[in-house]
Amino acid sequence: MADQGQLPPLPPLTIGEYTLPVPIIQGGMGVRVSAHNLAAAVANEGGLGIIATVALSLASKHYKKAKDYFRANVKALVDELTWAREKSPNGLIGVNCMVAIRDYEDMVRTSVEHGAQVVISGAGLPLRLPEYAASNPKTALVPIVSSLRAASLLAKRWHKTYKRLPDAMVFEDPNTAGGHLGTSREKLFTPEYSTEVVLPQLAEWSRKEYNDEIPIITAGGIWDRKDIDHAFSLGAKGVQMASRFICTHECDAMDAFKQVFIDAKPSDVIIVDSPAGLPGRALKTTFTTDLMRGEEVAKKCIATCLTECRCREEEETFCIAYALHQAQQGNMDHGLVFTGSNAVRHTHMMHVWEIFEELTGQKSPSAHLRPQPVDNVTEA
Ligand SMILES: Cc1cc2nc3c(=O)[nH]c(=O)nc-3n(C[C@H](O)[C@H](O)[C@H](O)COP(=O)(O)O)c2cc1C
Repeated sequence: MADQGQLPPLPPLTIGEYTLPVPIIQGGMGVRVSAHNLAAAVANEGGLGIIATVALSLASKHYKKAKDYFRANVKALVDELTWAREKSPNGLIGVNCMVAIRDYEDMVRTSVEHGAQVVISGAGLPLRLPEYAASNPKTALVPIVSSLRAASLLAKRWHKTYKRLPDAMVFEDPNTAGGHLGTSREKLFTPEYSTEVVLPQLAEWSRKEYNDEIPIITAGGIWDRKDIDHAFSLGAKGVQMASRFICTHECDAMDAFKQVFIDAKPSDVIIVDSPAGLPGRALKTTFTTDLMRGEEVAKKCIATCLTECRCREEEETFCIAYALHQAQQGNMDHGLVFTGSNAVRHTHMMHVWEIFEELTGQKSPSAHLRPQPVDNVTEA
């Protein structure tokens, strides 16, 4: 275990009917960067493991042709949830479902029916999430927001329409988070949307309006225990961390994807315009260099995955499902590698349990699941 001195224990986090022994949520990372292996490893450490549901089928046996895409996604999601549960029988496993995806409703319904304990949902306001998740009222529902206005509107709407409140909310700071960012390019890097400003507002709102019944979880730029303690001092009850878990043996992307992070320099963290109409934070690859030079990149829509898509509708930008899938497979000539602002802090591969030991200062609860070193036996 890394020498952390005597770290005070982190408080457990209750989300609806579930209590996380460690208040760390692993952020959903599509396409297939966080699938069953990473989610189960995080769940086995007492955190919340999240399978990103977007385009799961692309590397699965269920997908052969574009017309199979949506049906195959459902089957691939059932597989991932089953495998995660096999690897972590007692841990908490959830999913990330994006509103901006055409099979959003199917992804939520399938997740809830196949044992996801938590649904985290962003990339748009998940106004109808309670309806799609109604088949299991025990499933905790956690919207992602980037402002107090969005949080307040959503909580009021859910209460009025469904007589329920979000079981927690994730605030995602567009100035530091990875993937699609919840603000326009023009407003990026303005303090208005930063953790320092919005997190205390949300914490106070939850306390005053809802008696702390909606715990606020913060996401974006959380790397070490200092960051976690700071987030808690601003009112967070939990943290969602994504980029930190990429260079782990358990992360579901290919090694070449992880190597891009280990090799990254600060100037490699860039902002790209996604076909979803939002800016996205990514790492420079051959693909992004070509894109920025205006050279031809893959534009053939392989999945019709987004509800609104500049690639499909206007033949602009690029096919995001293809680019994210290529990256996950380790093909950087065609791959888009999403990242948080902390990408350059990766120096080597680690195990998820090592990261948890570092962050909590506690011995990993999963030690008994790992193969034990074999003693050297010398033959007589
Ligand atoms: C590779 C990658 C893929 C991501 N994919 C998704 C996704 O599918 N859905 C989503 O809501 N957020 C996605 N995110 C955002 C993360 O879940 C998380 O909230 C954010 O990256 C937190 O910041 P951090 O990476 O600095 O910890 C992604 C982030 C990364 C780095």
